[in-house]
Formats: sequence, structure tokens, C-alpha cells
Amino acid sequence: MSAAVIRATGLWTPPESIDNEALVASFNTWVDRDNAQHAAAIAAGEREPLAHSSVEFIEKASGIRSRYVIDREGILDPERMTPNIPARPDDALSVQAEIALKACQDALRLAAREPGQVDGVIVAASNLQRAYPAVAIELQAALGIEGFAFDMNVACSSATFAIQVAADMIAMGHARAILVANPEICSAHLNWRDRDSHFIFGDVATAILLEREDLGDEGWRILGSRLQTRFSNNIRNNFGFLNRAHDPVDGRRDALAGRPGDDRLFVQQGRKVFREVVPMVSELIVSHLSDLGLRPETLRRIWLHQANAHMNLLIARKVFGREAGGEDAPSILDRYANTSSAGSIIAFHLHSADLAPGDRGVLCSFGAGYSAGTVFIEKR
Ligand code: COA
Repeated sequence: MSAAVIRATGLWTPPESIDNEALVASFNTWVDRDNAQHAAAIAAGEREPLAHSSVEFIEKASGIRSRYVIDREGILDPERMTPNIPARPDDALSVQAEIALKACQDALRLAAREPGQVDGVIVAASNLQRAYPAVAIELQAALGIEGFAFDMNVACSSATFAIQVAADMIAMGHARAILVANPEICSAHLNWRDRDSHFIFGDVATAILLEREDLGDEGWRILGSRLQTRFSNNIRNNFGFLNRAHDPVDGRRDALAGRPGDDRLFVQQGRKVFREVVPMVSELIVSHLSDLGLRPETLRRIWLHQANAHMNLLIARKVFGREAGGEDAPSILDRYANTSSAGSIIAFHLHSADLAPGDRGVLCSFGAGYSAGTVFIEKR
């Protein structure tokens, strides 16, 4: 047995972004057009008019101000409201492998490692662009890595679950090093016509290079990782290979606003998720901390999943047992929005360079499933 460390992380951020002002302007244009088109039914009381979205609500409720996206134009076009990401020929690198490649190259560069020093690749993300061949195997070929690769999906917890899988495989001697990539194209599973959620997600790719501890001095020792799942329908996406075997199901939240097929996109009961996930995650972190024999005051930082700024403040307070936020639990939500499994990794990537050897923190993801994962780490 040889322990695994996190040697480095990598980040790829799309060049295009959409701020709340532009997003709301496009959404409200679509609402006005839709209401005008159905004016007679609305006047007859047969249909509720659609309501405007607001920048103030979005910022107050979530902390999100902007999001990076692969295609701004398609999303903001009120006639389309979906990113335009053209299909590529089968012999061209797929878009998800391409953005994962950029994040992996960043992690390899920061760790001063060559692909030949890596034995495995895991693509862990909320959405995979096809059933097979695995995006991870395509990425493995693009990187020029010998060995093995596979995809896995645990929604927003995909990164922490993959860290544990990779660390266990390294500890068991199955690989010297494994690259975990989280290419999250959330803009393609978001219903940009749904007022309750149209502001939530952004696109990004992150990577994590895990390696056998004795192969270098840099990085972060893994003190312990823990995974938890509990079934809930409060975050759900019915997209899948059986869709073509049955008719689309009507939009579920609001029979008037919903369109057939809406359930094949991201749907959540945000309020319920907030209420149920905050205690689940707080208890997971606090009990794992205690089982590792650590005390809250020995933690320098917590890098939490980035879904909602208020949720993270509540979780941080429970974990530290005092007012906490800012440096204790860095937020990247204002610029990146929710990037699913990549969120806690971006927070770590951008807010960990100032920690000193011996400093400790925890990476924590949570999301659909429900699923949650903790990875306690210590700077070497
Ligand atoms: N613009 C203006 N008003 C809006 C709006 C919008 N875009 N969307 C909803 N509203 C309105 C609602 O209609 C509601 O009005 P009402 O009180 O008159 O009924 C009010 O704002 C509150 O809506 P609600 O959905 O209860 O807001 P919220 O405070 O719960 O915030 C979320 C919504 C999604 C930001 C929040 O619930 C959240 O982040 N939950 C956690 C999600 C999570 O962690 N998910 C993990 C996924 S990976």
C-alpha cells in the first residue's frame, strides 16, 4: 500500500461569459414575446402570463453575478435559448474531451509531469456527451497516456467520488498516477426558459492529478475521504437512452409554462434542496472531522461545492462553530455560477496557493442523488 496525494489541479475557463443583466434582458424578451403570442388565452383566463426574471432576485437568492459559457450567442438569442455547439465528425476530438484536455494539460504543467508518468484517466462529470466510447478513453488517447480510462457520473459530487476512487486505485498499486477531469458543459442541460433555474449554471473544466506519495514532494496529503448518498427526486434530469422509447413527459413544475421534454433537462425544487442538503453536508463534514481526530480550529479552509452563497455560509458556520466565510470558505459563485462537480475544485485551485505546509482543509461536494463527498487534505 502506498498513499496517494493530490499533486496539482488544473482549470480551463471558457472565454465567453454572460452577466445577470444580459441574461435577464434576453429572458424577459422571450417572456414578453410568449405572453404576446398567447394574449387571447391569457385574457380569457385559460393561461397564466409568464413572469419576468430579475437581476436583484438572482444575486440576493444565489450570490451569482455572472457565468462562463461555451456559446454565449445561442443562449442569449430569445428565439433559441440553448447553446449552439455544433456536432463534430466522429474522427474529430469531441468538445467534452477537448475542454477536459485543456484542464489536464494545465494540471500536468503545474505538477511538471509528462503524460508518460500517468497510468489512468477518469472523466467524472454530471453529463457525458455520449454513451460510448467513454469520453475518458478519447481523452486518454489525446493525452497520449498508456493504461486505462473510464467515465463516471455522480452529478455534482463526481469530483470527490473520483478522487476517492483514484486514491484507492493508487494505494492498491493499480496506477502510479491518475488524472481526474471534470468537463462540465452545464449550459447544455439547463432549461434557459425556466425562471426558477435559468441563472444557475456555467461551463468549465477542472482536472486533478493524483499520484503515489513517494514520487515527489509537492502537493496535498489526503488525510481521509468519505462518500455519502441518499435518494431524492428534488434534483432530477430524465434525459437518457430510453427517451426515444416513449413520448416526452409534460413539464412537471408548472403545467402551463412547462414544455414537453423539459424533464429531460435540469429540474430542481431549490428550496427543498437547500433545507435538506445543508444539515446533511454539515453533519458529514463535522463527523468526518471528528473521526479523523481533528478539531475545527485546526482547519484553515473549506472548499465547498458552489451552488448557493447562503448555503455555504450556513455550512461554514456549522463546521467552524463561529461566524465564517470569506477566507474560511472561498466563493467563486459570483464569477463562475454553479459548475456542478467542478465548483469545489475551482475554489481550491484559485484559493489554496497561500496555505503553508501543515495547513489543513477539506474539499466538499454535494448535489443530485443526493450525493456528498469530503476529502480532508494537508499541504505537504
Ligand atoms: N426572478 C425573480 N423572481 C423569481 C425568480 C427569478 N428568476 N425565480 C423565482 N422567483 C420568485 C419565486 O417565484 C418566488 O416568488 P413567491 O415568493 O412570490 O412565490 C420567490 O422568488 C422565491 O423563490 P424560491 O425558488 O423559493 O427562491 P429561493 O430563495 O429558494 O432561491 C435558489 C432559489 C434556486 C437560488 C435556491 O433555492 C437554491 O440555491 N437552492 C439550493 C440549490 C442547490 O444547492 N442545488 C444543488 C444543485 S447542483
